[in-house]
Amino acid sequence: MQTLGQFPSVRMRRMRHDDFSRRLMRESRLSVDDLIYPVFVTEGTNTRVKVPSLPGVERLSIDLLLKQAEECVKLGIPVMALFPSIEDSLKTPDGSEAANPDGLIPRTVRALKEHFPELGVMCDVALDPYTTHGQDGLIDETGFILNDETIEMLVRQSLAQAEAGADIVAPSDMMDGRIGIIRQELEKRGLIYTKIMAYSAKYASCFYGPFRDAVGSSSNLGRSNKAVYQQDPANTNEALWEVGLDLAEGADMVMVKPGMPYLDVLWRVKQEFLAPTYVYQVSGEYAMLMAAIQNGWLDEKKAIMESLVCFKRAGADGILTYFAPQAARWLAEEGRR
Ligand code: PBG
Repeated sequence: MQTLGQFPSVRMRRMRHDDFSRRLMRESRLSVDDLIYPVFVTEGTNTRVKVPSLPGVERLSIDLLLKQAEECVKLGIPVMALFPSIEDSLKTPDGSEAANPDGLIPRTVRALKEHFPELGVMCDVALDPYTTHGQDGLIDETGFILNDETIEMLVRQSLAQAEAGADIVAPSDMMDGRIGIIRQELEKRGLIYTKIMAYSAKYASCFYGPFRDAVGSSSNLGRSNKAVYQQDPANTNEALWEVGLDLAEGADMVMVKPGMPYLDVLWRVKQEFLAPTYVYQVSGEYAMLMAAIQNGWLDEKKAIMESLVCFKRAGADGILTYFAPQAARWLAEEGRR
């Protein structure tokens, strides 16, 4: 080439050549402020139960969860998202334990807010950990999930959480109209600063499998699925429509879930609405990465950090991830908190 006197007129590799210039042109960055840490809570004291399909994730009793929370606060993680593992004896067809003001989640919220008032606490609004059939809502005699009857229970659940001090209630149930009704009921009770993060673009995905093991709903759910209320993985226009509705009904934040297979949806939601937009790197994504990492097929830190920065690139304002403490530790080591 040189002998021909011909050279590339643009060299993309010039800016990629040095660490300083790579830093200078980096478009997306992950920070600890982007992280929401989902955790599983269970009854008892000094109790930790491993979840085999989520290596490294444990269900913790409240006392141990407080230690986790302390670590989150030290690391600067803004929010913990709580999910319960409820004793079988408390599960019913209507999931009414979800609305018990002294249930496991309200007690956990009170303990967290008492010890760490500055830590944001988010609660999942859905009935699946509480129902004998593992569905997110109430069912009729044919097993069909009832919309409006479910909303009544979801309202009671949200109020129990918000009154216990939850900062964010996050309906993940996908019933129609629930955001607006929950918002109205919160307002009526003067809970005007309780934020709603709507699981708006929530798909009927197989990637929730390990989560269902963690909350103990998978065996109850059996072979039935959630396609009559969660979205079809083939659609994106539908996701935008749903996000629009949830924002109009009073959601403060919207979510796309799962994450990595749905980055196009995340991008479109952020571009279209410009609202605070979150993504859930769900249990199945975590399990896949961990399986490859544990086999030595992927480098742990590189795989995890790349997966997270891709969410930022696609427009996420924040990420729910089981890797949150690990990622926060790495960010702190690099001085990028
Ligand atoms: C409950 C809920 C689910 C998840 C979050 N909230 C499971 C489901 O809809 O079946 C999944 C989270 C994960 O897989 O990590 N409705």
